[in-house]
Amino acid sequence: MIGSANLNIMIKAARKAGRSLVKDFREVENLQVSTKGAGDFVSKADIAAETILKEELREARPTYGWLGEETGEAEGEDPTRRWIVDPLDGTTNFLHGLPHWAVSIALEHKGQIVAGVVFDAAKDEMFFAEKGAGAWMNDQRLRVSGRIRMIESIYATGVPFANSPHLPASLKDMARLMPVCAGVRRWGAAALDLAYVAAGRYDGYWERGLSPWDMAAGLVIVREAGGLVESITPEADIFESKSVICGNSNLFPNFAKIIRNEG
Ligand code: IPD
Ligand code: CA
Ligand code: CA
Repeated sequence: MIGSANLNIMIKAARKAGRSLVKDFREVENLQVSTKGAGDFVSKADIAAETILKEELREARPTYGWLGEETGEAEGEDPTRRWIVDPLDGTTNFLHGLPHWAVSIALEHKGQIVAGVVFDAAKDEMFFAEKGAGAWMNDQRLRVSGRIRMIESIYATGVPFANSPHLPASLKDMARLMPVCAGVRRWGAAALDLAYVAAGRYDGYWERGLSPWDMAAGLVIVREAGGLVESITPEADIFESKSVICGNSNLFPNFAKIIRNEG
């Protein structure tokens, strides 16, 4: 697969940040960690990775704007384009020595996500997509699962932190979904949850209380793999509602009905 110049810039930046994260992951017990709130951690590794990404991406495209989890928002000379970046999605896993975390980079143009890269550096799995050009993992083309029976399907979600206002809704979602499917997984990295739906590993994924950097890259990867992606609130904007639900088109209507509690 030959990507655009922008996609190549994103992949190169993700690999560079990934190398820094892998190094820190090997010595995770020595990392300095602070908390942004209950259950919300940030480490030196997150910040170092975002610094690398910012340098690489802004050097290659100095006019683009920026939205990064650790360094916030910066307007660019070109108001139509911006990078949306989560340098380390799955920080809690990372800090516990669990090899399930990723670098996530998206490119937004005129309010639409046009390219996304989610790099699982620990497993060397590079998920990427560009609008209209399909979704890939390394050199494999991605396609969402073809399952049609709810009872054979597996879903992923994220369960919010202890004091999150989204916790009760999330627990109720699971109480409705778990009796009618083959299982629910909660692996702690939203960007990878989306990438795994694109790869057909999960049949669907939903979560409330997400930020744009958690989802942006994964959204275009799922869409380009043939999946349906919406906000949990019907018709709402995904970023504004901070929620997402996605899956293959066979199962999506029923899955969405259950999560939206539409009886
Ligand atoms: C978190 C992860 C997690 C999701 C949380 C996110 P972080 O991102 O994606 O799976 O449930 O809502 O905040 O903090 O590890 O970048
Ligand atoms: Ca995140
Ligand atoms: Ca993060």
